[in-house]
Amino acid sequence: MTRRGAKNLIIPSRSGASTQAAKDVVSDLVSTGVRFVAPKCDVSSATELSAMLEACASMPPIKGCINATMALQDAIFDNMTHAQWTQTTRSKVHASWNLHNLLPHDMDFFILLSSLSGIYGSVGQSNYAAGCAFQDALARSRTDAGFRGYFSLDLGWMRNIGVIAENADFQRHRQHVADMQPIEDSDFLALLEHYCDPELPPRKSPAAAASQLLVGAVHPAYFRARGENPISFVDRPLFATFAFAGNGTKKNSAAAADDGEDAAFLFARAGGSSKSRRAIVLAALKAKLARALGVQASDVDSYRTLMDYGVDSLMAIELRNWIRRDFHAVVAVFDIMSGNSIATVSELIVQKAG
Ligand SMILES: NC(=O)c1ccc[n+]([C@@H]2O[C@H](COP(=O)([O-])OP(=O)(O)OC[C@H]3O[C@@H](n4cnc5c(N)ncnc54)[C@H](OP(=O)(O)O)[C@@H]3O)[C@@H](O)[C@H]2O)c1
Repeated sequence: MTRRGAKNLIIPSRSGASTQAAKDVVSDLVSTGVRFVAPKCDVSSATELSAMLEACASMPPIKGCINATMALQDAIFDNMTHAQWTQTTRSKVHASWNLHNLLPHDMDFFILLSSLSGIYGSVGQSNYAAGCAFQDALARSRTDAGFRGYFSLDLGWMRNIGVIAENADFQRHRQHVADMQPIEDSDFLALLEHYCDPELPPRKSPAAAASQLLVGAVHPAYFRARGENPISFVDRPLFATFAFAGNGTKKNSAAAADDGEDAAFLFARAGGSSKSRRAIVLAALKAKLARALGVQASDVDSYRTLMDYGVDSLMAIELRNWIRRDFHAVVAVFDIMSGNSIATVSELIVQKAG
């Protein structure tokens, strides 16, 4: 920031610049003429934050904020004490909320360093995941309300700076779990440079897309490119829209069985037998979804909805056209998107086919 011209910095933390590394950074900065304060302040306390801002009143108006507060208290949820829960959530929820309330509302940027944990969930870190999800929601709601410069950056894991880089156990764990791509400091700084730019044009809605960035998220194509099978959580419906990425690299058996002509032929040959026709349509629908998701047809649950598997309105139109072409059944997009199970939609197709 100072290399980009920042002359005044306030870096509060509960312990202040107490470590040798922190003291070295302070003296480096002061020697370059930067006005720098590193007061002891618990930002999750509105009273402490107000008092600290009051004490810094002689500094120029605050033009931006990067909230990097985090206090980890890991435990499996069943074993987590209330104190563990609140200490971590306060470092995310209360700290972000107080900064939002007490800092000027005409700043150039307000960046919340959040985490992919708020998206994926994280065993042993439900408190942290909840706090990060709050930060994402805060950025979204403030963007919706017309505030400019509000962003939550959902980071994966930072390879060479930050708490994981400083702790060998954390690093081993991250490498073992392999659920996020490591992020380099140069990428992180490039992101900050972009999002702190006062010239950055205001983003339009939808607010979620405009205010939240996922950095280091993995998806099925990431694993396939490494010759590995995707780990189970990326097959969750939440990630279904990513399933199309890199889909051409691997064909499963369901994809090999063509869901178009064969199904149309079998359906016609089944004549008046509704039971056979239902089975053919259900298998074809599951095969079609499996092909789109890059999973086995047997992994598609007949009793879940198409939306559970990420079918959106565009895909629903494609499905409707396919149903009309192959089964001569006119089914409305509404029927596909209305929350009916895959089995019910198949039943409907058979009924409409007459
Ligand atoms: N490192 C990663 O791989 C990674 C991955 C995803 C997201 N992130 C996000 O990036 C940010 C920085 O991470 P990091 O690795 O640099 O973490 P870190 O080294 O633990 O730094 C967190 C800082 O927050 C301060 N802090 C905690 N609670 C506070 C409070 N209530 N009031 C004031 N200061 C408080 C801590 O100082 P005191 O303890 O002295 O208060 C510490 O300086 C966090 O927001 C984190 O969620 C990091």
